[in-house]
Amino acid sequence: MTKSISEILEQTEFSKEDIVQLLQSDDKEQQVIFAKANEIKKEYVGLKTYYRGLVEFSNYCTKNCYYCGIRAGNKEVVRYDLSDDQILEAVQYAHKNKYASVVFQSGERSDEAFILRIEELLRKVKETTNNEIGITLSLGEQSLETYQKWFNAGAHRYLLRIETTNKELYYKIHPHNKKHNFESRIQALYDLKRAGYQTGTGVMIALPFQTYEDLANDLLFFKNFDIDMVGMGPYIEHHDTPLYEFRDKLMPLKDRFYLSLRMISILRIMMKDINIAAATALQAIDPIGREKAIKAGANIIMPNITPSHNRVNYQLYENKPCIDEGADDCTNCLEARIAMTGDTVAYGEWGDSTHFKNRTKNI
Ligand code: 5AD
Ligand code: SF4
Ligand code: FES
Repeated sequence: MTKSISEILEQTEFSKEDIVQLLQSDDKEQQVIFAKANEIKKEYVGLKTYYRGLVEFSNYCTKNCYYCGIRAGNKEVVRYDLSDDQILEAVQYAHKNKYASVVFQSGERSDEAFILRIEELLRKVKETTNNEIGITLSLGEQSLETYQKWFNAGAHRYLLRIETTNKELYYKIHPHNKKHNFESRIQALYDLKRAGYQTGTGVMIALPFQTYEDLANDLLFFKNFDIDMVGMGPYIEHHDTPLYEFRDKLMPLKDRFYLSLRMISILRIMMKDINIAAATALQAIDPIGREKAIKAGANIIMPNITPSHNRVNYQLYENKPCIDEGADDCTNCLEARIAMTGDTVAYGEWGDSTHFKNRTKNI
């Protein structure tokens, strides 16, 4: 006999089949999952939302992921690279507004000049903020040595999405070559942990060719890898990418959106004390998408603090929100939005992963 959603939710461990069933639940059933996730969030990490001011400082990229609007092969993109002063100005904004943490994200580069630039930038950020700003990096696959260098210079969290844990699917959405290698990506996650980072990963949800089983395996991967943070969101097609060809195979946007919320909720129930981001891609589908994710178990939002004239050139997917707004607009807008969810904004708190603290307590 099949189990009901409520029966599954009472268990302490979920099998792959349980997760598939939860992922397939209907509109009414998913409300039970969302409510349970919010309850667990309240108990384990509190009804608090932490900010990470996002600086998308450069859209130069040496890779060619088939889904991404800023991949090297897209000649339609106007490339930019913010100066250190521009980045530091965005950091000052975050610091003044008590965001407490920033995320530096760019396309992937691993040349010496880039590695050194980031190292020096990290030291400057620490210096100019009195060591008060927490720094997350999202700069792709690098060597263990580079990860260590950046860690020593002050970064302490790192996000590297695995994108999908199905190797076959991985090579449908990336070229199959040295630069895009599934095993190297997994290795990079191990290296990040080894270098001492709070380590974050994630996947895209509702990719062409992706199954519910794939997504269940993704969640089990996060759990087995004992990840500290997860950022995952819906795949949104971009017209200037090779994957656009398969747009007929996609679920309607609304279904991708709710499937993403169920992924977040199920993960919160499986991994009670990790940090889970409300991905910006959710808001590209639903105007209050991130807020819905906060109510469904997410506890991190990454407000964009990139100077607004550059935002238009950092479009990984279509319909990206807030590309015309400045940082001030987003701060005011977001606070009101979060209050509506029942969470409070944890201004001035780093909001390190409780899971990381728990897993490293005895080391
Ligand atoms: N739709 C949704 N997410 C995307 N990303 C890149 N392109 C897309 C897209 N078309 C995500 C990837 C990457 C992160 C920075 O942005 O998961 O890791
Ligand atoms: Fe480059 Fe990242 Fe886009 Fe891949 S997803 S093309 S690495 S910016
Ligand atoms: Fe950017 Fe509302 S969050 S304008």
